[in-house]
Amino acid sequence: MSGVVSMSTDPAPETGSGTPAGAAAPGRVAVIVPAAGKGERLGPGAPKALRELGGLPLLVHAVRTLVAARSVDLVVVAAPPDPQGVAEVQRLLADLPGDTRVVAGGTSRQESVALALAALPADCDVVLVHDAARALTPVEVIGAVVAAVRGGAGAVIPVLPVTDTVKAVDGDLVTATVDRSTLRAVQTPQGFTRDILAKAHAAADPAAPATDDAGLVEALGLPVRTVPGHAEAFKITTPFDLVLAEAVLRRRR
Ligand code: C5P
Repeated sequence: MSGVVSMSTDPAPETGSGTPAGAAAPGRVAVIVPAAGKGERLGPGAPKALRELGGLPLLVHAVRTLVAARSVDLVVVAAPPDPQGVAEVQRLLADLPGDTRVVAGGTSRQESVALALAALPADCDVVLVHDAARALTPVEVIGAVVAAVRGGAGAVIPVLPVTDTVKAVDGDLVTATVDRSTLRAVQTPQGFTRDILAKAHAAADPAAPATDDAGLVEALGLPVRTVPGHAEAFKITTPFDLVLAEAVLRRRR
């Protein structure tokens, strides 16, 4: 285990300016990006999150937006847990501004997030977890998640209404039509107070990994709040998604 490798060229940004005299200064905001899956290694085999979009890997797009967000102080990427994997991710992030760090990930997404969480500096009290594949997530979504945590929510997820009609099926037979008005499609970054995310991971069953971090908080019986997500925060996983992402990128340039 190589521990945390700091890539920062800048001093840690000061936070808490403007804090009223006598009030505790707020801590820093860290974002964890789990990218330790074998499918994301460079080289032959077309790694998913390192697939190029507009000439840059999805991971680089995602981290670049995170470090540009005024609400974010530090980005920690969990890399494949071998020296080569860590070195590859370090190389990818080397030219980005801001405070970016690389940790060796684990054997599951959940373990990778837990390892990155354990490696965060003590002064980070808000922690976001973000999918590299949501590479075009607008900074406004990141800001809204941080603001909701700062505003008192312990766990926050960006969501969109479900616009398709959704049916339950058994094989090719429809068994029910689900009331879509109560359903939401969930995006990232998901935001947490550090205490709650740490408790949720400590209580998690490694044998039954959750598909998202908010699910671990729900399992503790704690509330998870929602904020509006954004269409451009979609997960880029299929060739069609890449075509869409290229179009979004072209429009932004
Ligand atoms: O493999 P899957 O699609 O579930 O991975 C979801 C995310 O979790 C990917 O970004 C992947 O890199 C990450 N992951 C990780 N550590 C692992 C396995 C997956 O960080 N051991």
